[in-house]
Amino acid sequence: MSAGGSGDRHPVLAGVGGWLPSRVVTNDDLAAHLDTSDAWIRSRTGIGSRRFAEPGVSTGDLAVAAGALALKSSGEAQADAVVLATATPDHPLPGTAPQVAERLGLIGAAAFDVAAVCAGFVYGLATAGGLIAAGTARRVLLIGAETFTSIVNPRDRSTAVIFADGAGAVVLRAGRPDEPGALGPTDLGSDGGNHELIMVPGGGSRQRSSGADPGPEDHFFHMAGRDVYRHAVERLTSSSRAALAHAGWQVTDVDRFVPHQANAKISAAVADRLGLDADRVLSNIAEVGNTSAASIPLLLAQAGADGRLQPGHRVLLAAFGGGLTWGASTLVWPDITALTV
Ligand code: UT7
Repeated sequence: MSAGGSGDRHPVLAGVGGWLPSRVVTNDDLAAHLDTSDAWIRSRTGIGSRRFAEPGVSTGDLAVAAGALALKSSGEAQADAVVLATATPDHPLPGTAPQVAERLGLIGAAAFDVAAVCAGFVYGLATAGGLIAAGTARRVLLIGAETFTSIVNPRDRSTAVIFADGAGAVVLRAGRPDEPGALGPTDLGSDGGNHELIMVPGGGSRQRSSGADPGPEDHFFHMAGRDVYRHAVERLTSSSRAALAHAGWQVTDVDRFVPHQANAKISAAVADRLGLDADRVLSNIAEVGNTSAASIPLLLAQAGADGRLQPGHRVLLAAFGGGLTWGASTLVWPDITALTV
């Protein structure tokens, strides 16, 4: 629960960057080959368009681009560790983070992937913060990057209109707990009993070891949207409350709420339950869709760059995803230059 870090070993946000592929895909583009409509997608999700990576572009490519921006934003090209939150790695093994580290010139840095699907960035915050608090690293590059187009079934209208590609990254440095940017205690949780609500059934050891023949759709991403919706609202609300309690903040202390961009209606329902005014809730889902682990760092980078996040703002972050997994944390926004492409 604690962000850890005594003395000068507390994780502090030092830089942030966001990177999106240039190809814009509108709802009408999808409706041209899928039984859906702009009106359905907008009213049920709040999404108007999203970005798709071109064929041949991988999660690692997006992670390198966002990671380079975050390093530049932090003012230093160096990091001792790279943590990559992703559900769409370049290969089943090895992890994608070591190649990302190498391509960023972080030769020899500790590097590994975190698999917590859409909650991956918040799990990554706790992990990266823990590396700093333990004295294992002084600077950690934490990236959330996804090419969900690589696992979404383009013929499944219930997921193909929601998930998209993108990347965001932050640099955490060792500092003091009373500095702007110091991470608050992170609340994390999981419910493996409901793992089947969000999954890729094939490709792992469970199906292969059972001897069952993989079905034609088994390598695609599956989501039981209606059930997930209910869990998402519940867990995002309870985890946000826990993170606020751990930080000693009241809901009225929160200047900006940065929820994982799963669905605009989920964010609104959670804000309503928490008692947060809509003008304190940040969003970019209308233009980027659901980018899973990339969603929060991408939104932080965009909001930092366009002024929706200002130094001194008290920020609450919350995420929910497959596993099921969830988490929330707090920080006071520091005076940094956010970079986006
Ligand atoms: O990021 C990780 C966590 N993910 C989430 O939190 C996502 C949570 N779930 C959701 O956001 C929503 O459940 C969805 C946006 C996925 C779906 O919205 P919904 O309002 O829950 O729709 P539904 O799945 O209950 O489906 C309602 C109807 C169905 O038709 P019938 O059975 O009522 O005739 C669906 O077949 O809407 C139909 N439908 C669509 N229609 C047009 C489903 N997808 C589409 C579509 N276009 N794209």
